[in-house]
Amino acid sequence: MELTPVSAQFVAEVTNIDLSTPLAIGEQQALRKHLDEFAVLIFPDQPLTEAEQLGIAKLFGDLEVSVGASIYSTNKPRRLGHTELSDISNLDETGRILDNGDIRRLINISNQLWHTDSSFKRTPASVSLLSAQEIPPVGGATEFADMRAAWDALDESMQQRLLPLVAIHDYFHSRGLTGFDVEGIPDHWRTLQPPVPQVLVRHHRNTDRHSLYLASHISKIEDMSDTDSKALVDELIAFATQPQFLYRHRWRTHDLVMWDNRCTMHRGAGFDEKYRRSMRRATVQDIGPSVEQIDHSREVTA
Ligand SMILES: [Fe+2]
Repeated sequence: MELTPVSAQFVAEVTNIDLSTPLAIGEQQALRKHLDEFAVLIFPDQPLTEAEQLGIAKLFGDLEVSVGASIYSTNKPRRLGHTELSDISNLDETGRILDNGDIRRLINISNQLWHTDSSFKRTPASVSLLSAQEIPPVGGATEFADMRAAWDALDESMQQRLLPLVAIHDYFHSRGLTGFDVEGIPDHWRTLQPPVPQVLVRHHRNTDRHSLYLASHISKIEDMSDTDSKALVDELIAFATQPQFLYRHRWRTHDLVMWDNRCTMHRGAGFDEKYRRSMRRATVQDIGPSVEQIDHSREVTA
């Protein structure tokens, strides 16, 4: 396994490894260590089957079931064979480009807002692994933001102010921001995916680093007015997505990119929907709700 940093302490490319074959214990450990250190790892030329992709993901923990599979497409045919894989494509179950008004297209547009995967679940995602099968000739890049570097760049008074705060993340809040009619959704969708609390500042137990935990899913900050909440969240997302904290990934067919959702945000860039874009994501569950992982580290010392 060969590691080439693309961005110091944030993004690295990994070569000389075949993810389609079982990894030796030493390689598994090295992979976890590299992901802890960098937060985003790029593996070029890894044409993985669905099962092989899930096998790599399981090295990091238990897998989530795709929200699409569990909420709005229950009992409907899916393009992908495994419910643990999220369909990040503009294709229907037969492989045709989705019609303009298709609900799946409307729901996927929120991927273009800054977010971290599954922070709208009580136990959010730790690691995501996105595999590219077909990519448009232009557009459709994914941008990543380094939330550890953003935290480190905040002044200490701001850090102390943010440490105790808890944000409410709501799946339907971010859908509403991109024009999805959230008033018209069936009641049982809300029951399946209710708003959940998450700490605003995370501490990574393996690296002992803090990071901002932000997403467009945040509907408000606990014990703060709606106006003040929105102003603070907008300010923090603008701060954390300044150019010096960003990496923009231009996809190649058969890239596998894995990232740590606990210390990064990302968003997908738009592209001309006449082109096919076919990707699938395996998502690893964190060890528990972030609000139950509060520890000594929440008191930052200089
Ligand atoms: Fe995402």
